[in-house]
Formats: sequence, C-alpha cells, structure tokens
Amino acid sequence: MELLSTSARDLDRAAEAIRAGLLVAIPTETVYGLGADAWNRVALARVFEAKRRPSFDPLIVHVAEPAGASEVADLSARYAATLAERFWPGPLTMVLPKRERVPDLATSGLPTVAVRCPANAVAREIIRRSGVPVAAPSANPFGYLSPTRAEHVVAQLGDRVDFIVDGGRCPVGVESTVLDLSTDEPLVLRPGGLPVELIAEVIPGVRVYDRATTSPSAPGQLPSHYAPSRPLYLVPHGGVAGIEPRGRAAALCFGSDAAKSAERGGRWSRIIDLSPSMDPVEAAATLFDALHELDAAGFDELWAERLPDEGLGRAVNDRLYKASVK
Ligand code: TXA
Ligand code: MG
Repeated sequence: MELLSTSARDLDRAAEAIRAGLLVAIPTETVYGLGADAWNRVALARVFEAKRRPSFDPLIVHVAEPAGASEVADLSARYAATLAERFWPGPLTMVLPKRERVPDLATSGLPTVAVRCPANAVAREIIRRSGVPVAAPSANPFGYLSPTRAEHVVAQLGDRVDFIVDGGRCPVGVESTVLDLSTDEPLVLRPGGLPVELIAEVIPGVRVYDRATTSPSAPGQLPSHYAPSRPLYLVPHGGVAGIEPRGRAAALCFGSDAAKSAERGGRWSRIIDLSPSMDPVEAAATLFDALHELDAAGFDELWAERLPDEGLGRAVNDRLYKASVK
C-alpha cells in the first residue's frame, strides 16, 4: 500500500490505478470509500475480498458530475432529476434502474444500482481523471466502523488496498442517505448524511425503512435476488463429476481438475470452469456472467460445486446457495 497526497500528480496516480483495476481508498465528504473501476468485474471482486464481506452486498457507484449518473442509471424515475439537481454533489445515494452495462457484481444481481455524486473535491477529481464511474463501499472490513480519516483506512485495510489518498477528515462522518426510487413508493433505506427532512421537502411524507414495521426481506439486509429460472443444485467441491443429471444439463466447476473429471464423465452439455487455477477472486468475477449464460441457454438442470469456504469462496458459495434449490 502507498499513501498518496492530494497533489495533482498524486491524484493522477490514483486515477491511473483505478483505470488499471487496482483498489484506491478515497476520501469523500461522508466516509472513506474503497474505490474501484465500476466497469471492471475483477476489480469489483477484489473490493469484496478486501472487505472480507460474507456476501456480495451491492455497491454505490460514484460519479464526478451529476450528469454522469445517467451513464450508470436511468434517472427518469419520479423525483430523481429534482433530487439530483438539489442535492448533488452531496451525501445522497439514489437507487434507480441500472443501465445494462453495469456489472451484476456491483449490484448483487439486482436490476437497480445505487448511485451518487460525492461533494468532496478530491473524490470528484480522482473520478474525473480516471474517466470511469467508481464503485466504492465504505473502506472498512465487514462489520467494522466506517473510516473517517486516512489513518483509519491504513489501520483497517492497509495491507489490502493498493493506494490510500489522504484527504484529511471526512466532514460528514456518516455514510450517505440511501433512497430507493425504483418502486412506486420512494423509501429511505438508510438514514445518512442528507437529512430525511430535506428529502421530504421534495417528496412529502417520504417513508423511512424501519426494521420493526418493514419485512426483513426489505433492503438493509438485502437478500440476493439472483435466482436462475432453471433449478440449480449445489454439491460439495469436486462433487459434480459424480452426478447423473437429467436431460440437457450444465455444470459450474471450480478448478481444472474438477472440470476435467466432469468432462470425462461425459454427461454434461456444457461445463464452465469458474477459475481453472482455483482463484476465488477470479471465480467471483466470473460467477454472475456464468449463471446468466447458463440460464439463458435453457438447460434442464444446472449443477454447481461449492468453493472452499475461504476468502471470496464464501461469497461465491453464499450466492450459489441463494440461487440453489433448497
Ligand atoms: O457515504 C457513503 O455512502 C459511503 C461513501 C464511500 O460513498 N459508501 C457506503 O457504501 O456507505 P456501503 O457499501 O458501505 O453502503 C452501501 C449501502 C448498503 O447498505 C447497500 O445495501 C445499499 O447501499 N445499496 C447499494 N446498492 C443498492 C441497491 N441496488 N438497492 C438497495 N440498496 C442498495
Ligand atoms: Mg459500509
């Protein structure tokens, strides 16, 4: 890890690193974010690995200019344009229908994407110079406090990021307010840096998510919404080779040994190896693509093997489990 300043030269280096698929912790007005190129699936997978997240929670995609948001999201939802006009740049995240190009890894397979234009000049300059939208969760390991100073990031994630840009203390200090505009009834999913009262000036009586009254399957603890239309069965690692599938079936393997034994069995119409070298980061980056491909091809059955339960393997297993027939 290398600590960068906010000099023009260092901002260029941070932007270059993002373009190169590296992880760069950047200051925002709310908390430090763990930034990666939102178009780059391997970089996104690294974000989850660095945070040691047990699952692929959807990420917030950051843009340098309010107008840039339409590259990742459809802003035609009611109130979206007005809110963007009034509160961006600033600590408001809007959940909106995603553009097709946004990788599933950024949205946890949801048809929506969380987008925001941060108010921090350093963050915006890095994003502008990188030329790509920047996906960034708070730069803390899963379950830890969000970092509001570069030193927090150094202490918590210093060994897991490529660069940390020291922009001083984050003035807001709590994360952005997350507002879901993707349904008929706008809902504040997470109270944050933008007071709900200000949102209510635009959306009178806007609802706020409340654990006590809203079903546990509602956001906050978003379950994964990816489920293939074909039955997917989960087996232990290496277990695909011993399966006798019915009809035209496809297998998702992890590692070339497993894929080869599945091939020798000769019962599969299609075999996808998520990572021949058994790299869970690569598997995570490939997973949603593979599932989409298999689903679209209309196989009768899908079979997938679990990864070893470590690192991103856990996250992949979590997604496979949620997609599988119980
Ligand atoms: O202030 C912030 O928002 C900071 C800075 C870095 O911008 N970022 C941040 O990211 O707090 P994170 O990943 O820690 O929190 C993102 C929140 C999560 O609660 C997630 O579930 C929600 O946003 N979220 C993201 N995409 C969503 C979606 N498509 N639908 C519903 N909720 C979503
Ligand atoms: Mg967070």
